Amino acid sequence: MDRTFVMVKPDGFARGLVGRIVARFEEKGFKLVDAKVIQLTRQHAEHHYEHLRQKAFFGELVDFIVSGPVFAMIWEGKDAVKNARALIGATNPSEALSGTIRGDFATDVASNIIHGSDSDESAEREIKLFFR
Ligand code: TYD
Repeated sequence: MDRTFVMVKPDGFARGLVGRIVARFEEKGFKLVDAKVIQLTRQHAEHHYEHLRQKAFFGELVDFIVSGPVFAMIWEGKDAVKNARALIGATNPSEALSGTIRGDFATDVASNIIHGSDSDESAEREIKLFFR
């Protein structure tokens, strides 16, 4: 079975969406492997989003991700990365389909509720970064 890393961002956590988001992964057939509430340091957030360091929105992204607790999870399932990204929806919630988490719960790309690894390599890296 494949594993992926998923994180409810500070906006989703503050809005009390953790339970509903966990339920969507369970309903889809994913198995929860590990989970925890964590307040990221700036260093941890910068490491997590390392590949976006050159982007204009990087500073705001890091400010946002350290602005409150997040809920970090490891989910297991067939094609975990791909299937989790399908549940999560497009990066920009304005383009995310109804029925996806971002499509149903968010409107703004800068606060889009949830993160999911974008490849098996990212999943492995992010699981190590958050859980070891
Ligand atoms: P990215 O890795 O491109 O998307 P995803 O989270 O879907 O894998 O971007 C990481 C986060 O950066 C994204 O979830 C929200 C934020 N972001 C912005 O704030 N503005 C933008 O224009 C983009 C593309 C992303």
